[in-house]
Amino acid sequence: MSLKTPPGPSASEFLMYFPGLLYDPLTTLNRICEKYGSFVRLGFGNDRVYLVNDASALKEILKSDYLRFPRGKTLDDVRFLLGEGLFAADHEIWSTQRKLIKPAFHSEAFPLLEKVIRDELTALREQLDRFAATGESFDFERMMKRLMFRITVRNLFSGDIKADPDEIIEALDIITGYASFGSHTMTIIKKTLYSSLGKKYRTPAKILRAGQVIEDLVNRILNNVYNYPEQCGTFLNILINEAQAGRIPRRQVVDEMKNIIFAGFDTTAEALTWSFFSIFNHPGILMKTREEVEGKEPPDYKNVFRLPYTQNVVKETLRLFPPAWAFHRITTAESVLSGYTLPVNSWLFISPWLIHRSSLFWNNPEEFNPGRFNDEERSQGIRFEYIPFGNGPHVCIGNGIANFELLYMIASLVPEYNFTFADKKPPRLVSGIIIRSSKPVMAQVRKV
Ligand code: HEM
Repeated sequence: MSLKTPPGPSASEFLMYFPGLLYDPLTTLNRICEKYGSFVRLGFGNDRVYLVNDASALKEILKSDYLRFPRGKTLDDVRFLLGEGLFAADHEIWSTQRKLIKPAFHSEAFPLLEKVIRDELTALREQLDRFAATGESFDFERMMKRLMFRITVRNLFSGDIKADPDEIIEALDIITGYASFGSHTMTIIKKTLYSSLGKKYRTPAKILRAGQVIEDLVNRILNNVYNYPEQCGTFLNILINEAQAGRIPRRQVVDEMKNIIFAGFDTTAEALTWSFFSIFNHPGILMKTREEVEGKEPPDYKNVFRLPYTQNVVKETLRLFPPAWAFHRITTAESVLSGYTLPVNSWLFISPWLIHRSSLFWNNPEEFNPGRFNDEERSQGIRFEYIPFGNGPHVCIGNGIANFELLYMIASLVPEYNFTFADKKPPRLVSGIIIRSSKPVMAQVRKV
């Protein structure tokens, strides 16, 4: 067996990178990968961390041998929120739950989703028209989060939501910030320090309170509809029926709902933000998108998938701004990947952000160029060099929904409005579990 170890920064270099890793991991990790290649050892604390960008290793980890590489402890920082829901579970619990809720994400569920989107777009247009009339600036990213929160909850849970989206958005920001790269690194350091002092590290009260806000919302929704599953979206309908038949505990329903809040709306809201930001900051791309979507039948759940250029814009957005910028696995035994030997319990850091921005895999990776997906051969060949939704059995269950939502919003709003963003270049992005802007994404709007 080979005993080769992946290259990586020495201890002194690591110390040099350390402030960057805490405060700007996106840029710093990119720099490290550009220097050391597609498989990098990065050491801190007792955790052995490996940045894995290499296609053959990713294929093994995510697909062909995925049972040997579970999520394990990698989501422990957010376990208090996610419990044994689909996003955090492994093995039997995960596979049973995935099979159970899969129908809620099939295209048969799209007509209801389309109806919800249409309703919510009507409300959004009223807001946009008011901003257009007054010339007032607004935070586009926040607007997309509110929109996607309402759409996600109405579509998957129940039509009747009495919730303040801002309260949930803020709670989620606190939690995903806590699990961010920099904060997670600090937590490891604190845990090591506490344990050397014989003390137990506890999740900070502020974080637990934020988790409670989400738990309360989910319980409120569930209490209202538990006896009326027929009034719910397919997702909740399936879960309540299972719980009422005694096949899953009610707790599992709550966990699955919290996982959807965690994974389902922030991601799509970020993708929408950076799609519009990129379209309206590139006049040539705006022109081509408009050419494709203008003067057509109103968008619906069938025809939006026949917009090849717009689809490429979405793909390119998810390449440069992958909302789930990193996810993780653990080795359960000593493992050889791409010729390197990794010890048991190694932390495998898989980052669409690093892979999509690597000059090893992409020409001019920093350039926003939807045309790069035109190349049929290139598109066919892309597997593990393009993983905004992951790959293998854990691939994002919501990817069809997200794609539909993105295409539908672009096809609906691009012909009707001109957005002017205050920034012409993307602002610095912050790496919570999901990327977001480090400052409000201010925009103004005019009607076309
Ligand atoms: C642009 C939008 C989205 C992006 C970029 C995205 C990204 C991802 C990625 C990378 C994973 C794989 C994580 C891993 O392998 O550990 C994932 C899994 C998951 N996503 Fe998404 N997601 C998006 C939208 C959604 C939506 C709309 C939903 C639900 C409404 C959703 C629910 C989930 C769930 C439940 C999982 C766990 C799947 C499993 O392990 O079986 N996501 N997502």
